[in-house]
Amino acid sequence: MLIAPSVLASDFSKLGSEIERISACGADWIHLDGMDGRFVPNLTFGAPVIAAVRKCTDKPFDVHLMIEEPLRYVPDFLKAGADIISFHIESKSDPAETIAAIRRGGAKAAIAVKPGTPAEAVFPYLEDLYMVLVMTVEPGFGGQSFMEDMMDKVRALRARRPGLLVQVDGGIQEKTVRVAARAGVGVCVAGTSVFRAKDAGAAIAALKKAAEEAAPEGEETPC
Ligand code: DX5
Ligand code: ZN
Repeated sequence: MLIAPSVLASDFSKLGSEIERISACGADWIHLDGMDGRFVPNLTFGAPVIAAVRKCTDKPFDVHLMIEEPLRYVPDFLKAGADIISFHIESKSDPAETIAAIRRGGAKAAIAVKPGTPAEAVFPYLEDLYMVLVMTVEPGFGGQSFMEDMMDKVRALRARRPGLLVQVDGGIQEKTVRVAARAGVGVCVAGTSVFRAKDAGAAIAALKKAAEEAAPEGEETPC
């Protein structure tokens, strides 16, 4: 299981050193949540902030766009150093065009789905995606509870495209990472449980251990 700590739960007054700290203690990817106050009722940061902290780590930047018009801003996020860009299927941008723009820019494309959106909405795009992000909370805020019933969506996606890399985001801690691993999830985003832990390295290690113990046999960790 890969762990992608979400900087939403970090101390924004020292974002650069927070990213350095989490990179040094076992984070696989750095998850950065861009929110526009329209697609979700919260505002965070955009490409200039991501560009500024790009130099703080060599870890892949996993950018989760919770914005109404992702296609319009894809060039900015590519330039800022995003390695993986997830945009919402519920946004106003055309999914095929947005995937193409991300891939043309050399990044990996992923589609994110809100809890109320069925897996089938993503089926037409599965062949062109690096990953699907299944939200396990309503997007917008950290610290919410994991929606276990979303695991049916994970299974449906992986049944449709065997081996598909699925990420979950929201409410991940030791208990819920096990549930995710059993359903075939390959990447877990974790905000509160990692950044607010006394020892972030121990928290990441505990998540990985719990996932490993629970994962179905034969599952391989993606690289
Ligand atoms: C929520 C964000 C998440 C958030 C997760 O909309 O997409 O990445 O930071 O936070 P936790 O892990 O605290 O649920
Ligand atoms: Zn996120």
